Amino acid sequence: KRPAGAPDKALARKVTKVGIIGAGLMASQLAMLFARSLGVPVVMTDLDEDRVAKGVGYVHGEVDGLLAKGRIGQDKANFLKGLVTGSTSKDGFADADFVIEAVFEEMAVKQQVFAEVEAVVSSECVLATNTSSLSITQMASELEHPERVVGFHFFNPVAVMPLLEIIPGEKTDDATLATAFATGKGLKKTTILVKDSPSFITNRLLGRFMGEFSRIVDEGTPVQVADRAVAGLAPMPPFVLMGLVGPAIALHNSQTLVRAFGDRFYASPSLEAMVAARKPGYYTVVDGVQVP
Ligand code: CAA
Repeated sequence: KRPAGAPDKALARKVTKVGIIGAGLMASQLAMLFARSLGVPVVMTDLDEDRVAKGVGYVHGEVDGLLAKGRIGQDKANFLKGLVTGSTSKDGFADADFVIEAVFEEMAVKQQVFAEVEAVVSSECVLATNTSSLSITQMASELEHPERVVGFHFFNPVAVMPLLEIIPGEKTDDATLATAFATGKGLKKTTILVKDSPSFITNRLLGRFMGEFSRIVDEGTPVQVADRAVAGLAPMPPFVLMGLVGPAIALHNSQTLVRAFGDRFYASPSLEAMVAARKPGYYTVVDGVQVP
């Protein structure tokens, strides 16, 4: 018997083509993962040719890296490069059965790209979102087929982080959920069924951890000292992690959590100021820059 909430595997639909909305770093990492693990065509779209070319270029670079390390042969490298294409038009999604968005973390933007995609894809195509904090139910609310929307949340770096949070919204149907779990398994990720609540599970836990670090630094402890305090406890110093995730995303996560849960969480004013001014801040440690 299936445990409560677990989808019936028999309902899962086969994924034969994947669409990715966005061609930024997260989207490009997803393109690489889907192509390599599922071996199906992947189309990436973004607003302009430059971004699309950059996204496809990232995938080619990763494939070349695997080739150089001897992990794959030349034939496989050519095959993988051939699977991933990019376009500024979403027409290439017409025959996709699984489309995932990885665009700017803002509800209105995500709702808009989903509405655009819905006009192109079949009514059964899954619309997955890699949002790290926003409501799946709300994101699906304006669509004609909200039952095919599901949260599909990866972690950075996508190629190596094992976890995938799968989040059904209020209207997500069983076939969509089953397809999401089967796809996650195909991607060789550890899948967990997560409730649709602000920042889900992992980022809520991480938000507490990162918030406390920001507070310690805001109270005057040098970044290097705070980072060193977790040596051996965490795989990466917290502020290096913030650089990897992106300070704007880290700030957005903390703001979402403060809005939802109040002062159990902390949105650092100094991080906010740095993001607003686009100034390099303590997070520049990730580029090897001397911390101020
Ligand atoms: N892309 C692809 N592969 C990568 C990579 C990247 N960006 N970074 C590292 N790797 C690979 C390396 O190639 C290496 O692979 P092989 O063993 O096959 O050669 C492997 O990962 C290990 O790399 P390293 O030995 O160089 O480094 P490491 O042992 O220190 O591990 C790490 C690197 C896995 C990133 C580790 O530091 C780690 O786990 N850091 C924490 C990351 C984390 O917490 N991520 C979650 C962020 S929160 C988030 O993403 C959610 C959100 O919504 C904002």
